Amino acid sequence: MIISIVLSLFSLAVAKITPVPLDYCAAIAGKQWVSPLEVRSCMHSFPVNQDIKENIIEVLNKTIAMHTSVNYQISAPKPFDKDVHEDLHKDLARIRQQKYQSEFEFHLDIFHTFRRLNDGHCVVINLCYDSLYISYLPTPLVLLTAADSRQSVHIAPEAFAVASAEFGEEIEFWQNALPGKLQGQLETLNGAEVLAINDQDPFVAVNSNALITGGYQSFGTRQNSFFSSYYRGADGWLYQMGNFAQQVHPLTDVVKLAIRRVNSTSIDIVTLPYRSRFGRGSKNFTNSASYRANNCIATNETNGVDMYAVSHSTTQEHSEDPLPIGYFQQQPPIPRKEARRHPMNVLVDALPLSNIDLPEIMQPSKPALNESYSVAQFYMLDDNVTGVLALGSFSAANFSAFQHSLLDGLVELKSLGATQLLVDVTNNGGGYICIAHWLHRIIIGSKSTTEPQAGLDTATRAGTLAQLIVQKIVEDVMDPDALLYYNPTQWTNASNIPFSADIEWLKPLQELMINGHEDAFSQRLGQECQPFGVEPPRKGFFKAKDVVIISNGRCASSCSLFSITMSKLEGVRTVVVGGKQGTTQQYCGVVGGQSTDFSTIDTEIKSVHLKNHTLAPPDLSANIIEGITWRLAYGIDDPTEPEEWQDHPADINFPLTMETVNRPVAIWKAVSKEVFISSPPPLLVQDK
Ligand SMILES: *[C@@H]1O[C@H](CO)[C@@H](O)[C@H](O)[C@H]1NC(C)=O
Ligand SMILES: *[C@@H]1O[C@H](CO)[C@@H](O)[C@H](O)[C@H]1NC(C)=O
Ligand SMILES: *[C@@H]1O[C@H](CO)[C@@H](O)[C@H](O)[C@H]1NC(C)=O
Ligand SMILES: *[C@@H]1O[C@H](CO)[C@@H](O)[C@H](O)[C@H]1NC(C)=O
Ligand SMILES: *[C@@H]1O[C@H](CO)[C@@H](O)[C@H](O)[C@H]1NC(C)=O
Ligand SMILES: *[C@@H]1O[C@H](CO)[C@@H](O)[C@H](O)[C@H]1NC(C)=O
Ligand SMILES: *[C@@H]1O[C@H](CO)[C@@H](O)[C@H](O)[C@H]1NC(C)=O
Ligand SMILES: *[C@@H]1O[C@H](CO)[C@@H](O)[C@H](O)[C@H]1NC(C)=O
Ligand SMILES: *[C@@H]1O[C@H](CO)[C@@H](O)[C@H](O)[C@H]1NC(C)=O
Repeated sequence: MIISIVLSLFSLAVAKITPVPLDYCAAIAGKQWVSPLEVRSCMHSFPVNQDIKENIIEVLNKTIAMHTSVNYQISAPKPFDKDVHEDLHKDLARIRQQKYQSEFEFHLDIFHTFRRLNDGHCVVINLCYDSLYISYLPTPLVLLTAADSRQSVHIAPEAFAVASAEFGEEIEFWQNALPGKLQGQLETLNGAEVLAINDQDPFVAVNSNALITGGYQSFGTRQNSFFSSYYRGADGWLYQMGNFAQQVHPLTDVVKLAIRRVNSTSIDIVTLPYRSRFGRGSKNFTNSASYRANNCIATNETNGVDMYAVSHSTTQEHSEDPLPIGYFQQQPPIPRKEARRHPMNVLVDALPLSNIDLPEIMQPSKPALNESYSVAQFYMLDDNVTGVLALGSFSAANFSAFQHSLLDGLVELKSLGATQLLVDVTNNGGGYICIAHWLHRIIIGSKSTTEPQAGLDTATRAGTLAQLIVQKIVEDVMDPDALLYYNPTQWTNASNIPFSADIEWLKPLQELMINGHEDAFSQRLGQECQPFGVEPPRKGFFKAKDVVIISNGRCASSCSLFSITMSKLEGVRTVVVGGKQGTTQQYCGVVGGQSTDFSTIDTEIKSVHLKNHTLAPPDLSANIIEGITWRLAYGIDDPTEPEEWQDHPADINFPLTMETVNRPVAIWKAVSKEVFISSPPPLLVQDK
């Protein structure tokens, strides 16, 4: 009795001094929807482990030696001098010194440091924290232009249709959160004008998001990321909620909006809570320990493999599953084999590509032509002269089927009488480099700008470790099956002559001084795609003046390679829809030349047995993905400098209205009326 009293007094005392820590992760385990605060409490409950922190910084610091743009990005040239000024090495040194309350706080610093590059190829994603839960609002926003050309921010007219279909019963949470007479009336917010966000002009929120959303150099494009948009996916038409209504981290609890609902004269103030949903790629857990074990520790696919070690040549190479980075690449999932065979240039975002449906009523109602495949859908508009290629990506699961489909679809459009072509690349994050070259070549036909090279020359960064890898391949013949990207036989020189196996192809090096730092790049590389595997017709399908490329500016990587060569070499016109007036709308961004990631680079290093080298990054111990730009393309206007920092202003900034926003066919019709004025106006035809 006395003992037990003493004991319980003792344990009380102990409890007072060191309270049993609550397991904030156990509290949310197994729940699909939780509050951002609950997720934050779980994520912030892990202290920094000094070894893991050191490991991450060392891997990042050493891998960016293969990222082409480190020195350029310290201060990008005009016109992006105000947009890109991040010194990665300096910030990594700062972060190494800095103390953090939690590992999450440490990661956010790393994450935002890389995001400040505004380079959708060079990102750091930690699966322990990024999009593990995605935080949503049921009110995606759009930027509309009225007849008097005044622009205003609105709740998307389709907001309720999208949210109620996607969020199911969780919609009740928001119905109940609405104040007073609006309770249960979420649908009546559709189309409402947004007069203020958190008591400030909506563009204060748009612009502060533009500072952290990353992905694109251009400020205008990052503004556009705030708003909702559509995307042609492999299996259907999808809806992107935009950064206001969909967030990578559970950092915002509520937003206060002043709105004027459609046909209403009064102003309503609504405070909407964000809700965090367990990500579709996240691994289940039951408590803090299993949260970490399942989501935070490096997996058997985080790091690279020695391609010549027997145990790996079977598992890794032949897997039908994409690499872990595939979840974050802005393209449909591509089987690993296909991805290795055909070099890629593709955007990576911490928000995985949306799988939310575009409401059916907003999708094209006419079926696409039978030649359509996956992300490539062909339509003929009602005028019977305007063909449309809606192209959501330059990647699709079957490269060959994709290549055939693009050719066959254009043939079919022509045979149906199309004399002009709209190519809609809205939210096209790139993909296969050679599909970009192929599409340019077949639309335009055989000419000096498409043969032997329908894309851009490139160069890779050539630091000491890169040079050593090439040396191992060439001198020690360590890649007899030509599996590695550093193998000379993968590339051609600037005269488009393939390198032979015995050439140290990085050399002669181009030694440069970039922002006061010495840097070295490989010699210039020429074309890499021709012959194409499929024989292209000699003649093009359309004259350049009859082709127009449309997007919301979010066209990256291989999409940039395509639209830049079409615009700057052929004179094809470009249209960006929905951008803010007075802001330059770039028709594409994040050009790159080829993108890759840490695990792929690690595979190169391991396969030539250089893992021991002091410049080689160690294996990652955390569940992290690091994307980099491995090659940069040379410019067209200035062929001696990278295209990455040259200007790509759209020819036309096309305003969106309540009737056209997020409705592809309505946009195509409206744009085609504006851009194809050379076709005979209907009145003239009638007069004859
Ligand atoms: C994860 O949990 C969800 C819901 O609790 C369940 O439906 C799903 O099957 C689980 N997944 C795995 C791999 O156990
Ligand atoms: C990064 O690597 C460079 C050598 O390339 C080294 O000088 C620097 O100290 C490293 N920085 C950090 C933060 O590890
Ligand atoms: C707004 O008013 C117009 C004109 O009276 C009407 O056609 C429309 O249906 C109304 N919209 C809503 C959402 O009430
Ligand atoms: C990694 O492990 C998973 C199962 O845990 C397995 O399915 C997969 O094939 C492994 N991948 C490699 C490359 O070994
Ligand atoms: C397209 O395919 C469908 C289904 O296979 C077929 O019924 C239809 O006739 C085809 N259309 C054309 C124009 O070939
Ligand atoms: C387009 O073609 C269809 C089918 O041949 C025809 O019914 C329609 O009248 C045509 N439209 C125009 C504007 O010529
Ligand atoms: C890919 O498409 C081609 C047709 O272009 C077909 O022959 C091949 O079987 C397809 N491959 C797979 C794996 O489906
Ligand atoms: C490319 O290689 C060929 C064959 O070795 C050589 O004749 C040519 O000069 C090279 N071109 C350049 C630009 O180095
Ligand atoms: C690392 O170096 C040691 C000693 O030099 C060597 O025995 C070992 O094989 C090397 N490991 C790799 C992966 O190259």
